[in-house]
Amino acid sequence: MSAKKSPFDLNQFLATRTEATNAALNHFLPSEKIKPATIHKAMRYSIFAGGKRMRPAVLLAAAEACGGSEKDALPLACAVECIHTYSLIHDDLPAMDNDDFRRGKPTNHKVFGEGIAVLAGDALLTQAFEIAAQAKGWPRYSHRDLILEIAKASGSLQLVGGQVADLEGENKKLSIAELKFIHERKTSALLGCSVRLGGMSANCTPAQLQALTDFGYNVGLAFQVIDDILDVTQTSEQLGKTAGKDVAVQKATYPSIVGLEKSRKIAEQLTAKAFASLKIFKGKAFALEALAEFLLKREK
Ligand code: IPE
Ligand code: IPE
Ligand code: MG
Ligand code: MG
Ligand code: MG
Repeated sequence: MSAKKSPFDLNQFLATRTEATNAALNHFLPSEKIKPATIHKAMRYSIFAGGKRMRPAVLLAAAEACGGSEKDALPLACAVECIHTYSLIHDDLPAMDNDDFRRGKPTNHKVFGEGIAVLAGDALLTQAFEIAAQAKGWPRYSHRDLILEIAKASGSLQLVGGQVADLEGENKKLSIAELKFIHERKTSALLGCSVRLGGMSANCTPAQLQALTDFGYNVGLAFQVIDDILDVTQTSEQLGKTAGKDVAVQKATYPSIVGLEKSRKIAEQLTAKAFASLKIFKGKAFALEALAEFLLKREK
């Protein structure tokens, strides 16, 4: 007698995938005892400060939707989390957003000083490629494809480019198109890359990869719209980072350009588009669906 399939439990999914990702990160990152100990302490400080692990989560969920295994996807999940954490360490530096709190703790440069924080970011970025090089290649996706995917999402055309445009947009009145240009790059690129890598780690079909690309793009854009909204609506305690910073430095955000109500609508529309692209998985992408909804409704 086969038991009836129980409804998908997202909390359980997030708890188990976060645990697996953390254990793998602990395995891949040099121990704090290895010299020079300061840099390894600084890398581990920010990685294990308690982020939501959303990029690993969407990567592992995409792998599952395509019939892949956690074992094959985990190195890539660790790689994207290293890139993400490096981007946060640098984003918080006085030369950038100048933030004192991140993931509920003092920022990396507050604890280790600016020089070490810059280097901890550099080391995590490099570590990402070292880890990704240990992932398995596939008939459809070679090692080269996997490395290119991460490099492209992180470089000056994408994540770094978005951060540049974000800095240059401060104290300026940007159009929605200009803001979207920033969000596509600084946030959607790495989220989209994570979803795609999940599929690639499962040797997904070209049609599946296209669906995952569309899903990741829209979820990634929605993610930053929500980040902008939360900066206005939540407390610093709730977010684990200083709230209200965007208004204080006159950062262009969705709420500042179109208001909160319209921003929420836009995030909903983007999430609806993301859902629509999952149709080809015929119900097998339930974890991705649940994650998209969770990311829309998140409160931190
Ligand atoms: C924050 O990302 C930076 C953005 C791209 C908006 P997250 O909200 O995923 O941060 P953590 O990983 O949970 O700390
Ligand atoms: C950061 O965007 C995006 C990257 C780090 C690439 P934000 O500057 O809005 O992120 P928070 O609000 O500091 O987390
Ligand atoms: Mg920033
Ligand atoms: Mg910031
Ligand atoms: Mg923000």
